[in-house]
Amino acid sequence: MNNTEQFYNRIGKSLEGFTNETNKKIILREIMKYLNKNQKILDAGCGYGRITIPLAKNGFDVDGIDISSRLIGTANRLKINENLDIKFTKGDLRKLPYKEKYFDVVLCLWNTFMHFIDYNDQRQVLKEFKRILKKGGIIIIETLYIDKALEDYMKKHDELKDNYFFFRAGKYKTKLAIINKSNFIALGKELGFQDIKIKLKKNYPGEYLDRFLVIFKKV
Ligand SMILES: C[S@@+](CC[C@H](N)C(=O)[O-])C[C@H]1O[C@@H](n2cnc3c(N)ncnc32)[C@H](O)[C@@H]1O
Repeated sequence: MNNTEQFYNRIGKSLEGFTNETNKKIILREIMKYLNKNQKILDAGCGYGRITIPLAKNGFDVDGIDISSRLIGTANRLKINENLDIKFTKGDLRKLPYKEKYFDVVLCLWNTFMHFIDYNDQRQVLKEFKRILKKGGIIIIETLYIDKALEDYMKKHDELKDNYFFFRAGKYKTKLAIINKSNFIALGKELGFQDIKIKLKKNYPGEYLDRFLVIFKKV
């Protein structure tokens, strides 16, 4: 079990407690602009199904995968309660258990992509997303936008290291990568994605930090 898995298994029960309902509705509305109901969608790093469940309730064909057995357990319970047809799988985004060209869309939301600190891991995850996507398919990644003020704050509190900072949940902490716009563009280009769109979502209602929405298209 790696550190991230341990972190989410431990705080797993209370990840729902960190959910901001206003933000959840906003991101759902935002991503639904890119989706349609005849697509096969993967919620990569789906957690307890915060977004997977409402997407399925809205008639989208979506599956979820996450490294935390605890969160996958919660997602399965919620799915059964709602009588939804979603396949939740425990697995690692660096080695996905899906065949090539299976999905039309891969979602990687909240801070999921930031759990990959090493460039090689970031590259590997995107490579896997690309492998399972059909031609013309898209990846939608949501990450925190770390601006100068936040960096300065983290430096002052010794939370900021070279390319990551510590995210704390009660007595537990995990590392989150700092990935800026130019890092995403470099990664996307290296992996041969085209039509790379990066949107800075400032002043998200219900969120105190700004976010990037990164969209890669497989051509
Ligand atoms: C902040 S949560 C976001 C959950 C979900 N995407 C959402 O929007 O509610 C980050 C998730 O990434 C998952 N995760 C981190 N590293 C992972 C990995 N290597 N493979 C699969 N899931 C991973 C964690 O277990 C956790 O559920």
